[in-house]
Amino acid sequence: MNICVIGTGYVGLVTGTCFADFGVNVSCVDKDTSKIEMLNRGEIPIYEPGLKEIVDKNINEGRLTFTTDLSESIKKSLVIFIAVGTPPREDGSADLSYIEEVARTIARNLNGYKVIVTKSTVPVGTGKLIESIIDKEQGEDHKFDVVSNPEFLREGSAVEDFMRPNRVVLGARSEQAIAIMKDLYSPLYLIETPFVITDIETSELIKYASNAFLATKISFINEVATICERVGADVHMVAKGMGLDNRIGSKFLHAGPGYGGSCFPKDTMAITRIARDHDYVFKIVEAVVEVNHDQRERMLEKIKGLTGELKGTQIGVLGLAFKPNTDDIRESPAIDIANMLMAQGASIKAYDPAAMENAGKAMSGPVKFCSDAYEVADGSDALLILTEWNQFRKLDLGRLKGLLKSPRIIDLRNIYDPANVKKFGFEYVCVGRGGRIHESPFRDAIETAAFQAD
Ligand code: UGA
Repeated sequence: MNICVIGTGYVGLVTGTCFADFGVNVSCVDKDTSKIEMLNRGEIPIYEPGLKEIVDKNINEGRLTFTTDLSESIKKSLVIFIAVGTPPREDGSADLSYIEEVARTIARNLNGYKVIVTKSTVPVGTGKLIESIIDKEQGEDHKFDVVSNPEFLREGSAVEDFMRPNRVVLGARSEQAIAIMKDLYSPLYLIETPFVITDIETSELIKYASNAFLATKISFINEVATICERVGADVHMVAKGMGLDNRIGSKFLHAGPGYGGSCFPKDTMAITRIARDHDYVFKIVEAVVEVNHDQRERMLEKIKGLTGELKGTQIGVLGLAFKPNTDDIRESPAIDIANMLMAQGASIKAYDPAAMENAGKAMSGPVKFCSDAYEVADGSDALLILTEWNQFRKLDLGRLKGLLKSPRIIDLRNIYDPANVKKFGFEYVCVGRGGRIHESPFRDAIETAAFQAD
């Protein structure tokens, strides 16, 4: 089968490459010539573990090509995936102009029956919009079907998420289109992946509802963390105690500086917009967005609580990406917080294993970029952990103490054990774990019991 994937961002590139690995012939198309040239040279424009290896493998085996020729790719493909951006507009709604442009180009190049699939996260009703554009603009009367097949890939583990998904969601009006999509995904049947087959609108909403729900878990636990700080409880253990209930689940209950990235901030805003456009206020998700926004401010207060006035201080920042294993800094809490610190007169030294180049363009003031955590600590008034890269989890605390001007660690990702850090003589703050449990003689026993039950 020949397919094409339009858009070579995270979603398009991972989708196209993984389908090629399933044995399908894939053309990945983008109008950005320099990106296509880069991909044809075997260079990957994003940081995504494991991706380069399967891109190389599938190019070598002749199943994966990169091109700017959209018309030709459409003509030779049975299935066309749309994976172009849907950036947020001022009012939070998704900008569909790229999708509309692609739909018009598909219409002009229809030369037989095709399945047109939305992979980008699109507002409810976009499938219908694509159908109507193609109907209106195609010169002839070729049959086609539109399918909604939202992606659930996480940056940093996108390949694994594609190859071993929790589920595949397919929304369509035609059985023929569903049969073709099932054929495309047939390797996943072998690993018994559940398929959710539904109508287009339901499928489109499944994606928004999933991201909004995950964002809700994060804002929920961040509010619980604030309460923990006030009552002297430990959010880490609250999350464990809650998560052991299968109905709740332990994932996405890590308190921190709030969610970021290219998906949750955009999709939570978009679903509240979709609701309001249909005369409904989605109160819970509106609160989730507000809590997430306020969380940045709360983190700033926390930092100032330890350092005092920021003017004239030097803060050492560890982590700039919105999460580990990516170079993506879109809506990164780390960038927002570092910029807030600079706005209040602090100077910043920073290190991130992958995101420094991108961060350089997004920082509001001059930042001294360093080559490791110890260079960051050298001469700083406090060390601030903003992204939980694995390499920050086991730093040499004795060495850090010798390098820092004042032995202070602000751990906004809760990666250190407060009792242990304090033992080294650090002043230490984290999120929602200021309480009694760490002084409790039962602490180790409680931790062990919780881990065993996990
Ligand atoms: C998210 C979803 O997890 C994917 O399922 C979805 O496909 C994707 O959006 C998308 O819509 O394309 P991603 O943005 O890559 O994936 O990152 P996540 O791992 O979900 O993390 C999002 C943010 O939440 C990060 O800033 C992370 O630090 C934060 N987070 C996550 C927390 O603060 N606490 C948690 O417990 C989990």
